[in-house]
Amino acid sequence: MVEQATVNRWVTGSSPVAGAIFMKIFISGIAGFLGSHLADAFINEGHHVVGCDSLIGGELDNVPPDAEFYQYDCCFRNSMLKITKGCDLVYHTAATAYEGLSVFSPHLITQNIVTGSVSLFSAAIENKVKRIIFCSSMARYGTNEIPFREEFVPKPQDPYGIAKVAAENILKNLCEVHGVEYVIAVPHNIIGPRQKYDDPYRNVASIMINLMLQNRQPYIYGDGKQKRCFSYIDDDLFCLKEMATNKSVKSQIINIGPDEEFITINSLANKIANQLKFNLNPKYLKGRPQEVLEATCSADKARRLLNYKTKTKLDHGLKKMIDFIKVKGVKKFRYHLDLEIINSKTPKTWKEKLF
Ligand SMILES: NC(=O)c1ccc[n+]([C@@H]2O[C@H](COP(=O)([O-])OP(=O)(O)OC[C@H]3O[C@@H](n4cnc5c(N)ncnc54)[C@H](O)[C@@H]3O)[C@@H](O)[C@H]2O)c1
Repeated sequence: MVEQATVNRWVTGSSPVAGAIFMKIFISGIAGFLGSHLADAFINEGHHVVGCDSLIGGELDNVPPDAEFYQYDCCFRNSMLKITKGCDLVYHTAATAYEGLSVFSPHLITQNIVTGSVSLFSAAIENKVKRIIFCSSMARYGTNEIPFREEFVPKPQDPYGIAKVAAENILKNLCEVHGVEYVIAVPHNIIGPRQKYDDPYRNVASIMINLMLQNRQPYIYGDGKQKRCFSYIDDDLFCLKEMATNKSVKSQIINIGPDEEFITINSLANKIANQLKFNLNPKYLKGRPQEVLEATCSADKARRLLNYKTKTKLDHGLKKMIDFIKVKGVKKFRYHLDLEIINSKTPKTWKEKLF
């Protein structure tokens, strides 16, 4: 194993690998999909990774064994103050990343995102970290025209997107006042191994794979003509890692992910069914309130500043996910979050626990 060092040094713009400068990197949400992959990538390069997760949406299994792990909730500032001490960088990936659910459980979702973010930002700034990288969401763009570009004024359409924009604004404000560098990453529809697939409230591709592997038909909200771009985790990781030290991304908002394969949810279901040789006959349900019909982000800025390239085709990414779920085994869906508002607009899949 590469030597782990906890040297509290920082050389802006240097490559941690080429320059052999080891950093102490804090990652919130380290038991989650993105946070755990990011932690692995930094640990493999010899950095010391400290991470926390409340496990509200992640899996303990995902935490890399070589990471220094704390089962802490970001909302508790004193805990954040203790565990971000001596860190050079903070990646804030922790979030209740439940866009569709956020109009039905707004208190849970916004409280977690806003309080958790501000508490971690405040602790990290007090501990004099050099840079904070915040994972926002394309929900920030809401009803803007596609493709979403970073310079657009945010028009979020649901409490999840509104909370992400609030966290972005507070981060910008605090970093400007206190002289800390920040970057806002806007990942979108990432897929890949380790994504939670027993969660009925999010991750459409994972839900469909988990259902079809159980020989069950997927449910599709609306007519299935909603369009999205899906990104494979490895392609996003390269950019997220670059955000640690790249000078040109300081104070920037950057979309992370492809803009090439823009497909409907119906096509996504077909692609998965083809790979599984599953006889697809989806069950269509009433559309979800506030769901943006066409959402895709421009990758121009990421290409220009971070040399972003889509290396993994969607079919290949789906295959990797299918292989992962087959190895782990299919799972029963867990309705682990409370619906705060139950009425005629609440999706039947959640009210009646149909998955
Ligand atoms: N995956 C995507 O497609 C996508 C798209 C856009 C934005 N994002 C953003 O990227 C980040 C990572 O997403 P992900 O897909 O890895 O989600 P994830 O749910 O797999 O990971 C998030 C992790 O954060 C943890 N967490 C949540 N609230 C916490 C808190 N208060 N304290 C400590 N831990 C907490 C969860 O337990 C989970 O392990 C999120 O901020 C999400 O909003 C993801």
